[in-house]
Amino acid sequence: MVPLHDLHHRPLRNLRLSVTDRCNLRCGYCMPEESYTWLQRADLLSFEESTALVGELVPHGLERVRLTGGEPLLRRDIDQLVRSLCSLPGLREVAMTTNALRLPELAADLRRAGLARLTVSLDTLRPDRFLELTRRAELPAALRGLEAAAAAGFTGTKLNVVVMRETNDDELLDMLDFARERDLEVRFIEYMDVGGATRWNMERVVPATEILERIGAARGGVAPEDPERTAAPADRFRTGDGQRFGVIASTTRPFCGSCDRARLTADGQFISCLYARAGTPLAPLLRGHGARAAANRVVELWSGRTDRGAEDRAGLSAREALAGPGELRETPHLEMHTRGG
Ligand code: GTP
Ligand code: 5AD
Ligand code: SF4
Repeated sequence: MVPLHDLHHRPLRNLRLSVTDRCNLRCGYCMPEESYTWLQRADLLSFEESTALVGELVPHGLERVRLTGGEPLLRRDIDQLVRSLCSLPGLREVAMTTNALRLPELAADLRRAGLARLTVSLDTLRPDRFLELTRRAELPAALRGLEAAAAAGFTGTKLNVVVMRETNDDELLDMLDFARERDLEVRFIEYMDVGGATRWNMERVVPATEILERIGAARGGVAPEDPERTAAPADRFRTGDGQRFGVIASTTRPFCGSCDRARLTADGQFISCLYARAGTPLAPLLRGHGARAAANRVVELWSGRTDRGAEDRAGLSAREALAGPGELRETPHLEMHTRGG
């Protein structure tokens, strides 16, 4: 089969599969509101449906699936989805982005099911600040989750830290130390104006250049690890004292030119860009005509894809949150916690 490319010649290599829109934290950059319009449980794709669709996309070039949410570990029996995805011939990797709270119960099962890698989102190491940032006093659970991941045999675990000015930007070095002690690769992420980030403003973004300067000043400089930019969101660096880390500069230096990522919401909306205003529901096709028909629709959509959402945002003269609370309540598929962070 001819590998699929979009109109900017970008392949579809990665699928971010959101398995639930629920979360057990309320991070200020993602879920700051008091109430949300939730997806209906009855509308969620079954594990069989998602696996069948993924299986039909592999021949078109799909290599990796990343399970996200919301918080993916809130989806019941998630290890069974991992197991069935891992049984698909030709799929190279099934990974997960999680807040780690439920890893103490689930890490061993996930490992046994074949999950290759974990990325853990953790923005602070201070309990009081964790409560402020997430509205839940769960730092100890997150730390236990990280320990459980290591005990279950996960290696190459990454730590995602969203850096916000005057919020947690005084913890860059503490995070580096924490990651080094545990053999984790930390990635500092610029605060993004995605759906859900209703409190976003440019003053709170700490640009990657500043993150690098600050780390360099304290750690004997920083040097880029990869000579060329890759399709991965993170640019990787090494400190003067030999620690590798990443920076995800999606706000000030977007990487749309090499974006090979598609998203599927838990209820089966295909989203071609993190910033897309609308998605395409695939559940009716999937249920009425089967996975091949739904995959063919994805092929059609991807073939006509021109999205460069983050670049478009970076070009705006006045930049504010992508959507307000009212619009998000009307269109929950705009939310980062629905379309997969
Ligand atoms: P690996 O490189 O395989 O570890 O995966 P990853 O970096 O895609 O995984 P992760 O879930 O950790 O993503 C890191 C962060 O990059 C996300 O939390 C987002 O903030 C950002 N990101 C991921 N995908 C996109 C994307 O398609 N567009 C933009 N603009 N940002 C993205
Ligand atoms: N800006 C940057 N990163 C975000 N994430 C969610 N919302 C935002 C935002 N507004 C990240 C989380 C997590 C990943 C799933 O998405 O920190 O690491
Ligand atoms: Fe891809 Fe859209 Fe993110 Fe750009 S903004 S990297 S096109 S998902």
